[in-house]
Amino acid sequence: MISRSDIAYTNEVIQGLNTEIIGKNIYHFKTLDSTNLYSKKFIKKGIQEGAVVIADTQTCGRGRKKRSWSSPLGGLWFSVILYPNIHPKQGMFLTMIASVSVAQAIKKCIGINPTIKWPNDIIIKEKKLCGILTELESEKDKIKNAIVGIGINVNNKIDRDLKDVAISLKQVKGIDISLINLLSKILKKFDYYYQQFLTKKYDNIRKTWFSFSEIIGKKVEVYDNNKIINGIVSDVDENGCLILDTPKGKVQIFSGDVKYL
Ligand code: BTN
Repeated sequence: MISRSDIAYTNEVIQGLNTEIIGKNIYHFKTLDSTNLYSKKFIKKGIQEGAVVIADTQTCGRGRKKRSWSSPLGGLWFSVILYPNIHPKQGMFLTMIASVSVAQAIKKCIGINPTIKWPNDIIIKEKKLCGILTELESEKDKIKNAIVGIGINVNNKIDRDLKDVAISLKQVKGIDISLINLLSKILKKFDYYYQQFLTKKYDNIRKTWFSFSEIIGKKVEVYDNNKIINGIVSDVDENGCLILDTPKGKVQIFSGDVKYL
């Protein structure tokens, strides 16, 4: 592993952040296997809540369902470390917080209105711009720690085999985007929504999430663990689960890949 802590980058992001919890400490590396994996090591060492681990490139970027995540130079690949005092079933809410923070930051910084596709994808022009991998460590009915890993295609080249399904901000705007500005904005939003979450103001987060989502009323097919469920989306409940109206009645979906029909 080649790594370095880049003080200039880190200071530039921290300057003017003025957050309560998120981004008080930022650890920047040239290359990591995965910022989520490195965050696990940091947690073992007792790193404080809100620490951010960022890498210019990842050699073993991880996606949901054990998929790999392409992470070349020019993208924003980072993880946020949290110790929320919550039940594991509320874990999906952390992903919601991340997705609204990214969507709002993109809208504000770049002037583009992305959509959020359940559970965690940020979409522009029907292609994936950002993915979120939230990993929880729980004991009994309490979360011990959470790592929220966020990957955004910003100025990076999109791999040839992903061209039909993935897109970068640079492709959309036609210019290079400042990683530092975008990261600062996301961390500020994340801090705001995380505090709302800790003070149980869930409705505000859900409302914002719905304002970026076009999923309600859509006919969908959900794939999860070799199971396929068809239905019409009627809600996303307070724990972030998808609620489908199916011929057999309402079905609650915890995870899966959604295809619009
Ligand atoms: C997905 O499958 O949609 C989730 C992708 C999450 C990728 C990010 S990049 C930063 C962090 N580190 C990882 O290894 N994965 C997440």
